Amino acid sequence: MKIVHAAGELFPYIKTGGLADVVGATTRTLAEYGHEVAVFLPGYRSILDHPDMVNAKRLCSFGVDMGSDIQKGEVLSLNIRKNLTLHLVCRDEYFDRSYPYGRPDRDYDDNAERFIFFSKAVVEVLIRTSLKPDIVHCHDWQAALVPILVRIEERRRASAIAGKTVFTIHNLAFQGIFPRKVFGLTNLPDELLSMDGLEFYGQVNLLKGGILFSDSLTTVSPTYAREILTPEFGCGMDGVLALRSEDLVSILNGIDYEVWNPETDPYLPATYSVSNLKGKNACRRALLLKCGMDEGYTGPVFGIISRFTQQKGIDILLETKDFFSGDRARLILLGNGSTEYRRRSVEFAKANDGVVYLGPRHDEAVSHLIEAGSDFFLMPSVFEPCGLNQMYSQRYGTIPLVSRVGGLADTVVDIGEFPDEGTGIQFPPSDPEAFRKALERAVTLFEDKKKMAGVIERAMKKDFSWKTAARAYEKLYTEIL
Ligand code: ADP
Ligand code: GLC
Repeated sequence: MKIVHAAGELFPYIKTGGLADVVGATTRTLAEYGHEVAVFLPGYRSILDHPDMVNAKRLCSFGVDMGSDIQKGEVLSLNIRKNLTLHLVCRDEYFDRSYPYGRPDRDYDDNAERFIFFSKAVVEVLIRTSLKPDIVHCHDWQAALVPILVRIEERRRASAIAGKTVFTIHNLAFQGIFPRKVFGLTNLPDELLSMDGLEFYGQVNLLKGGILFSDSLTTVSPTYAREILTPEFGCGMDGVLALRSEDLVSILNGIDYEVWNPETDPYLPATYSVSNLKGKNACRRALLLKCGMDEGYTGPVFGIISRFTQQKGIDILLETKDFFSGDRARLILLGNGSTEYRRRSVEFAKANDGVVYLGPRHDEAVSHLIEAGSDFFLMPSVFEPCGLNQMYSQRYGTIPLVSRVGGLADTVVDIGEFPDEGTGIQFPPSDPEAFRKALERAVTLFEDKKKMAGVIERAMKKDFSWKTAARAYEKLYTEIL
């Protein structure tokens, strides 16, 4: 099949969260299966500066209508590996910036223009190159306009641009909601600025376009697929989603073992496997040293790597009293977030001598060391479409403590409920008492060396390979074609 993906992030070129990992792993795996895969990304400055880009070639220049203006751009293309091409949609005015979506405390004011331009450019390039993909697979609000733009352009031109469109919701909390006036930039027919179209409480909602107008709609875990149909988790879109509940398919994310594998991980001071865990201890010592802690510390080490936002349950963690002071446990925090979360993280570390706050920064190398060197990994999310770190943690023999929501509920088996199968600890979300009890359960488990070893072994042996997800996408594509 000829498959095109359009997204705002792609590992290893640009990443703020799991979207990058997932688009990277899906497209690579589909290319390995022999499909001809192309990924469209905005040409962010950080990607253009990536060493791989010396081999990029100019594919075309183009102009797209943005309201009454014509805006120009160009596409640089790079063959990343066999069957896999990256197309960068470049226009410096929009993408030559330090961050993809905005500074820590504020999104860029022109995000609507930037991503409407990106989506139009994708469609324009498909037309110019006559690629005629079988599938155009779009991710999240940044690319949500592509499915409807494809169909409207096909109608205008009376010729086909693509076979079927697929839209994946990675996080319903980000919808691309903008003032009504940006609708003009889409050049879509006026009737689409209605309840049955992109209109959302008097504004424009780009995500809604992806939900309503894609041929197939997916999300990233079975529990999240059920949750988003309820007012509690629907972020105001449960009614819209209900219109497509029959078509909503869940495909659970996996792990990219090329990137997250303790047996080969180049970021680790020592590698290890389920049959030889010596290297894990070396990683633990290296992590403690890196954090200025005593490398001979014998209690449990907890880690967290996260975007520090309300979604991730950081509030519950930062309100934990006393647990991480004294000698009972250590906690290492790596997180990017708002100025307010940074301030509170610094204060939390100051008030608790067992806590080291390494943020605010995005640090791929340190994130691997935390996954390998910790004994426990914390994910107290309020909601979590899938979550990746709980799977990375299990692979690295680091026991996850997760709230029972979304993909966390689907990928971690609680050792209390299922003593012979358990691979982690679950607790109800947004409940400080339950969170505290989960921390205490972790300490008790840590003290029982035999039981802990059994949980580690089971966790490391679990199969979270991307093959399962990639095969599921392949099957879905085949079914809808
Ligand atoms: P989300 O996409 O909601 O942020 P996921 O669990 O799906 O959550 O994915 C988060 C990804 O981002 C993981 O690969 C995680 O290791 C990574 N990550 C988050 N914060 C940082 C950081 N500060 N430094 C390095 N990697 C980070
Ligand atoms: C989103 C979600 C996260 C998910 C990721 C990849 O960012 O917040 O739970 O794992 O997308 O699908």
